[in-house]
Amino acid sequence: MQDRVVTQVITPALVSEGAGVRLRRSFPGRSLDHLDPFLLLDDFSSDRPKDYLAGFPMHPHRGIETVTYLLDGEVHHQDSIGHAGVVGPGDCQWMTAGRGILHEEMPRPVDGRIAGFQLWVNLPARLKMTAPRYQEVPAYRIPQLLLDDGVQVRLVAGRVGQVEGPVREIAAEPTYLDVTIPAGVRFQHPVEQSHNALIYLYAGVAHVSEQQLEAPRLAVLGEGDRVIIHATDAAAHLLLVAGRPWGEPVARYGPFVMNTREEIQHTLLELRQGTFIR
Ligand code: CO
Repeated sequence: MQDRVVTQVITPALVSEGAGVRLRRSFPGRSLDHLDPFLLLDDFSSDRPKDYLAGFPMHPHRGIETVTYLLDGEVHHQDSIGHAGVVGPGDCQWMTAGRGILHEEMPRPVDGRIAGFQLWVNLPARLKMTAPRYQEVPAYRIPQLLLDDGVQVRLVAGRVGQVEGPVREIAAEPTYLDVTIPAGVRFQHPVEQSHNALIYLYAGVAHVSEQQLEAPRLAVLGEGDRVIIHATDAAAHLLLVAGRPWGEPVARYGPFVMNTREEIQHTLLELRQGTFIR
């Protein structure tokens, strides 16, 4: 086994997105543009409704998947192909935008609070224009595993032992775990050698290799086939995310991520001409 070490630590930047949602963005940013196949990681947790009530009114996506995972509160969404619903506490929405979707995402508090994350996963060239698709996973379908020493894992995607997460048939073969490690406990998890991996520590303190992390922090992991995370003085709450890199050129323009500038220009032309949604 080769343990992955932390190669980069990023303190998320406070940014304003959508119609004025204040959120913490780990990337893209000054120190990391993307971690193939992952293109963006936002944390929109807040106990101040004015930070997020403006929401994300109708906007397009093409060429990517957007993954919304909530701990608290709700995100109300509807889209251009007649799909609408609510992502609630503990739920995950894995949306494959493919050739194009227009949608709105409106965060709403429950008991005055929202906590959640959005991750963007790149599609390979051969799937960028695939038909849009949703995997809506309610909380009760996400296995909550209690491991040795009291470690709790909510398994959104990937595998823990013999258990497989409910999000399946995603090209990047993702791992998406929400892990709670009690103080004084070490958690280890195998990670496919060829995959890129990150940890987003959203609460508490953790040590990974020699690196101490204090929430909120993103840790990019180097090569290896295992990660060991040690919660020392306090419990650690984190997302462990990994996926297969595409090694393809990335041409991005806001919510569109294609392989070439020409494809981006074509997308903008289709938007202007009203042929973006088919
Ligand atoms: Co969106």
